[in-house]
Amino acid sequence: MIVLEVENYQQMSEKAANIMFQYVAEGKKAVLGLATGGTPVKTYDLLVSRIQNEKTDLSHVHTVNLDEYIGLDEKHPQSYHHFMEEHLFQHVPIPKKQTHLPNGNAEDLNEECIHYEQIIESLGGVDIQLLGIGANGHIGFNEPGTPFDQKTHLVDLAPSTREANARFFASLDEVPKKAITMGIATIMNSKNILLLASGESKADALKQLIEGSVSEACPATVLQKHPSLTIIADEAALSSLSDEARSKINQSNVSC
Ligand code: F6R
Repeated sequence: MIVLEVENYQQMSEKAANIMFQYVAEGKKAVLGLATGGTPVKTYDLLVSRIQNEKTDLSHVHTVNLDEYIGLDEKHPQSYHHFMEEHLFQHVPIPKKQTHLPNGNAEDLNEECIHYEQIIESLGGVDIQLLGIGANGHIGFNEPGTPFDQKTHLVDLAPSTREANARFFASLDEVPKKAITMGIATIMNSKNILLLASGESKADALKQLIEGSVSEACPATVLQKHPSLTIIADEAALSSLSDEARSKINQSNVSC
């Protein structure tokens, strides 16, 4: 695990955008696992600017998103399809047919889960998976209690997740109750993982992830077992760390 501590959201986003840019600028096939939510917005912004300024060829880039709400039209302003168009896809030349999100309106949602896994497999797996983290330790929409061996599946969103996401909707009632998400096994299969965290609301979950014991009660703790995990977090998100964990980060700004 590599932990990069930065001062604030802006610095977190700059570092993350630079890392993501390296993957797409190499000129060889890259499969990006993408996240939505508030955390990566600025990262996408900066990535878009860099790609536009450097006129980067993205014909070799494929994307697979972590999750999507069930029952929201793709054109709904809060659907993750819409989010990705707004923040990334419409601004950069990734061929449309190379961008994938789970279809939360599929007639047979169980079939859609299988289909989504097949897409990821057919691409040869994810090269780098971008993740945020829920205040309850969820990754993707894998809520506390999700078995670690699950692949793409359907979930009931935790009340706290719906409350956290209500800020994007007109009211809590409008936040969908169900979603389709890559499972923890799917996420763990990614070759590299980049997790971003900003703000005090993530401090407890991040403390668990970095120094807690691995437990399904806090899904993000499974990432301790991933061979290539980088966390970029700001001071507020790291504010609950014990002195011991903090000094390890400060000494080397790397290992834990
Ligand atoms: C988003 C996702 C979620 C978010 C998490 C944090 O695709 O899978 O796990 O990363 O809920 O959300 P924000 O960034 O809004 O705090």
